Amino acid sequence: MPTETALLAGRPVHRMGFGAMQLPGPGVFGPPPDRDRALAVLRRAVEAGVDHIDTAQFYGPVVANELIHEALHPYPMGLVLVSKVGAARDERGQWLGAQRPEELRAGVEANLASLELDQVPVVNLRRHPGSDVPFAEQLGAMVALREEGLIGGIGLSNVDLAQYVAARAMTPVACVQNAYNLADRSGQDVFDACRADEVPFVPFFPLGSAFHAENPVLGEPAVIETARRLNATPAQVALAWLLQQAPTVLLIPGTSSLGHLEENLAAAELVLDQAAIEALPR
Ligand SMILES: NC(=O)c1ccc[n+]([C@@H]2O[C@H](COP(=O)([O-])OP(=O)(O)OC[C@H]3O[C@@H](n4cnc5c(N)ncnc54)[C@H](OP(=O)(O)O)[C@@H]3O)[C@@H](O)[C@H]2O)c1
Repeated sequence: MPTETALLAGRPVHRMGFGAMQLPGPGVFGPPPDRDRALAVLRRAVEAGVDHIDTAQFYGPVVANELIHEALHPYPMGLVLVSKVGAARDERGQWLGAQRPEELRAGVEANLASLELDQVPVVNLRRHPGSDVPFAEQLGAMVALREEGLIGGIGLSNVDLAQYVAARAMTPVACVQNAYNLADRSGQDVFDACRADEVPFVPFFPLGSAFHAENPVLGEPAVIETARRLNATPAQVALAWLLQQAPTVLLIPGTSSLGHLEENLAAAELVLDQAAIEALPR
């Protein structure tokens, strides 16, 4: 893993991290199909130098955090666990909002318990689509949690530009986690603002996500052709492209596969040449 790092809530982390959302069962619900493999993926990631792992209490639910705890506790010095609050799951795995200030607090407390931490280094306030809870009230709750020492830094997720600007006026923002990849630049305005402000931007769905029957990134002909020309894989091209967008981009590709993990880690060393930049979608 290259030694290049960026600061996340004041802590240096390698730019290639890991997202734990693929570790629970299908649909991010229930136990993993192969628990030993899920634990091995987490251990290998950290052994290879990953020091930034993204998770959530509602992945499984609880499953991703339990796996992280079992695989990695006591946590190595320097490991930055990032969680998020603002959602819940029903008994069939449907995604629900849990947006009210008291639900945000309960979410942080659940993460502290399942991860066995005194403080979660960073917690993203994840806006749920259609939430009617005032954003300022939510931020107030997050600031109180940080002042009590229960969280180290406040991140934002699924925010628009106006919310990002409003949040920055109220509190330091540790990172922004929005959807962004080669095929989806709908959040370009927030991306550009983070780059200008040197706020870490952590794109989710960096590989196009697991939710599409046809992956819009890995199935893109220009990505496939560029990968063939550079003797890399489409996933590596997609990740290298993101890293080259700004020095403050931190990646958290999600995988349940040891082979894909190795592939993704190696993407941190892939340099896209000018021909690649010109061939890829703009
Ligand atoms: N804040 C939010 O609202 C939010 C939303 C979504 C995700 N997230 C976070 O962002 C992280 C990344 O997003 P994501 O996991 O949804 O999507 P992603 O990283 O874009 O893609 C994951 C999918 O790509 C596959 N994959 C991984 N590496 C691969 C490789 N080298 N070659 C081919 N396929 C590969 C995975 O399957 P395999 O398991 O078979 O490798 C899985 O199907 C999540 O893990 C989660 O921590 C946050």
